[in-house]
Formats: sequence, structure tokens, C-alpha cells
Amino acid sequence: MSDNAEQSRKAAPYVLGHTEHELQRLRTQAALIDPITKWFLIEAGISTGMRVLDIGSGAGHVAFLAAEIVGDAGEVIGADRSAEAVRAATAEASARWLGNVSFRSGDPAELTFGQPFDAVIGRYVLQFQADPAAMLRKVAAHAKPGGVVVFHELDWGGIWSYPPAATHDTCCRWCVAAIGESGAETGMGLKLRSTFVAAGLPEPELRMEAIMGGGSRSGVLIQQLVDLVRTVSPAIERLGLATAADIGHDTLFDRIADEVNATGSVLVGRLQVGCWSRTV
Ligand SMILES: C[S@@+](CC[C@H](N)C(=O)[O-])C[C@H]1O[C@@H](n2cnc3c(N)ncnc32)[C@H](O)[C@@H]1O
Repeated sequence: MSDNAEQSRKAAPYVLGHTEHELQRLRTQAALIDPITKWFLIEAGISTGMRVLDIGSGAGHVAFLAAEIVGDAGEVIGADRSAEAVRAATAEASARWLGNVSFRSGDPAELTFGQPFDAVIGRYVLQFQADPAAMLRKVAAHAKPGGVVVFHELDWGGIWSYPPAATHDTCCRWCVAAIGESGAETGMGLKLRSTFVAAGLPEPELRMEAIMGGGSRSGVLIQQLVDLVRTVSPAIERLGLATAADIGHDTLFDRIADEVNATGSVLVGRLQVGCWSRTV
């Protein structure tokens, strides 16, 4: 990485922000991805009665999944450095009548908690860190010896369409450039193993999934992409990749869907990678 890229990674604010559109995008994304995360959490060893810390809890969905697994005998604390996200997650926990989940504002690498956790978990958060291994080392220290450490990250390296759907593929390139510009790691999924090892954790287990769909089953994938393009459109425009008129937000979904139907394409979503180990 060049010095400039390294500096932008350190200085960059969180690229996706916490607008109402982005919080809604996280909800839509969760509905699609939660079954995969749940599978990773259970395979990693999250179970009834555990105390779990969720890193970068956003609108709260991973914490809610963990709360369902640990049940009333367990407890989940989500931590996010965005006060807006913590407010939204706390409101959602009340709306769901969840008594075993709470949220704290701050960077969990710097926060202190009363007692160690049975597990430290997170989804789509290491990719936004200037030094993911340093973050992981610090947050894993919140787990007791033998505690589970499980992270779910994505990798844009696997996203594609076949036969190629041009507008879909262009939107993917915009997103990779816009997210990458902020210093976030768009290939975090395949870097999870080396990040765990660099953080001093034992050799981790790895699993991978991807959402795929064609024809009438491609809508959720197209919606995900269109939502993300809207979130990162300021960066797309700033980088000179496209103007708001080129993007055409209001018609983007229909244009991609028409193209996917015309080409008979199958869309492959971002690779979803689960990685887990236990502290020594
Ligand atoms: C893409 S969102 C994912 C939210 C949630 N984990 C999910 O999967 O729905 C990433 C979240 O991580 C939070 N975040 C990023 N870096 C953080 C840090 N160092 N400490 C705490 N939160 C962080 C952001 O504020 C954001 O809410």
C-alpha cells in the first residue's frame, strides 16, 4: 500500500455513514445474510447461556441473532462507535422485547467491560479498520481463555455475473472503487485467516457462502447493490466515476433487472466468509 493510501486509511471516516437510508440498508442486508451469519455463529460454538460481545453492532442484527442463540440464560452486548447506530439498535431491541441484549457506544477495542465474555463476534467490521489485526487482538482480549472469536466478513473478489450483465458489473466496480477509496478492505474475507494469525489467535476454521440468483430470484441481489450504490454515491461522484445523472438512482434497479432478464444472467453476490478460533 502506498503512503497516501495508508494515510487515507488512517484518516478516513467510516465510509458508509449512518443515515436513515444506510440503517435501512443494513436491515435489508440483514434479512438476506442473517441465515449465513447464524450458521457461522453456531458452527463456531456460540450456544445457550453464553455472554457474547458483538463488535461494530450497527443496527443490532448480529447481536439479535446471538441473543436468539444464547437465550434468556445468556447475554449479548453490542458495541459501536456510532451513537446513531447504538440508538437505532437499542430502539429495535426494545421493539423486539429483547431483555438479554444491550448496546454501548464506543470503540470496543478501547472500552472496558466488567467481566470477560464467552465469545467475541462481529460482522462486516474488520474491513473498516486501519489495522484489522491490531483491532482483533484487542477485542479478542475481552474473551475468557478458551473463548470463541468469530468474525464474518465479505469479499468483493467473488462478485460476478454470467453471462455478463454490464450495468450490474459497472455498479460493482463503482462500489469497490468508492469503498476502497476510504481505505476499507474490499477483500477482507480472504484476509481473515492471516488477520487471525497476526492477532495471535490459533489457526482458524474457515467457511464460505454466497447468495446467487437469476431471473425472478435476482431481485434481492440487485436491490442490495442498488442500495449500496446510493450509500456510496458521494464517493462515486467525487472519484469522477459517474455523475448522479449517469447513475440514475430512480431507474437503476429496473435497468439492471431488465438487463439480467435479457441476458439470462446468474448473479453471484459478494463472498461471505466466516472465520473462527478460540483464545488460548
Ligand atoms: C457495515 S456496518 C455492520 C453492522 C452490523 N455488524 C451488521 O452486520 O449489520 C459496520 C459497523 O461497524 C461500526 N464500526 C466500524 N469501526 C468500528 C470501531 N472501531 N469500533 C466500533 N464500531 C465500529 C460502524 O460504526 C458500523 O456501524
